[in-house]
Amino acid sequence: MHEATGTSYAKIILIGEHAVVYDQPAIALPVKSIQLHATIWPRADQLQQVSSLFYNGTLAASHQTRFGGVADLLTALLAHFGAADQGFDLRIESALPPERGMGSSAAAAVAITRAVYAAFDQSLAHADLLRWADQSEQVLHGNPSGLDVATASASQPQWFVRHQAPHPLNLPKSGTLLIADTGQPGQTKAAVAAVAARLRQDRTRFFPELVRIGQAVQRAKHAIEVSDLEQLGDQLNVAQTSLAALGVSSLALNQLIDAALGAGALGAKLTGSGAGGCMIALAADPTSAQAVRTALAEAGATATWQYDFNQSEA
Ligand code: MEV
Repeated sequence: MHEATGTSYAKIILIGEHAVVYDQPAIALPVKSIQLHATIWPRADQLQQVSSLFYNGTLAASHQTRFGGVADLLTALLAHFGAADQGFDLRIESALPPERGMGSSAAAAVAITRAVYAAFDQSLAHADLLRWADQSEQVLHGNPSGLDVATASASQPQWFVRHQAPHPLNLPKSGTLLIADTGQPGQTKAAVAAVAARLRQDRTRFFPELVRIGQAVQRAKHAIEVSDLEQLGDQLNVAQTSLAALGVSSLALNQLIDAALGAGALGAKLTGSGAGGCMIALAADPTSAQAVRTALAEAGATATWQYDFNQSEA
């Protein structure tokens, strides 16, 4: 083993969260300006040390913590390289706010897998990267669609259907997404379980909401292909209505969504698993984007980010 770093990106789900767990399509974007880096280097002794925002300590003690999924992944990767007893330090540095729907756990899994492969001078096929990282998401989330991992490891917007290879998508040349943080954590596992519970309670009432989200994703794809930002905004609103009906929006998310629409956004919705976390709003041009950003800050967003569609190329 020698010192190596792996990098991954924040992901923003443009449209399709939750429904994607039930085989509907989704569109998600890697945000290359918000990065996570994992650096691993060997130690002379046999200590295996991790330092990160979530967890500082030995690998052995981390399995029962919030770091557990990633810890299991790291253990499996070391075993794969015949280096189960290799001493190392692993440092994770992340600009992603944790538990805000930006895919921080998937980003950590992707960056760690890349770092360990690089540390053993092995090339890593993309399909293998997805398989490794999905393994740790499985521990954390129970029933992940794979969308977070696919996007955190991509360099372009992705069209994603569960169990299928993702495809890159080209976004329109204009249009800006504002991303705003409610400041409240959203737990993916709990939100995915809440949707599953609603389906168990009343499938006839709730399953059509997932189908409606899937149809909105299809229309959003068409709107992207013909650069129709108004139509894209409408589809974001359609998806938000269904996500709220499924019970994964929140007061804080609704307030930011209302503020963005009131300031002229073409559409707005939660992003990620919801029940806290972040929302997105689509603005037609830079002047409108500035007005929406100001309105989001005034409505209580604890942080905002801007993603211009023209920055989405590989
Ligand atoms: C979480 O970022 C996205 C969800 O659709 C869950 C998943 O796709 O695994 C809520």
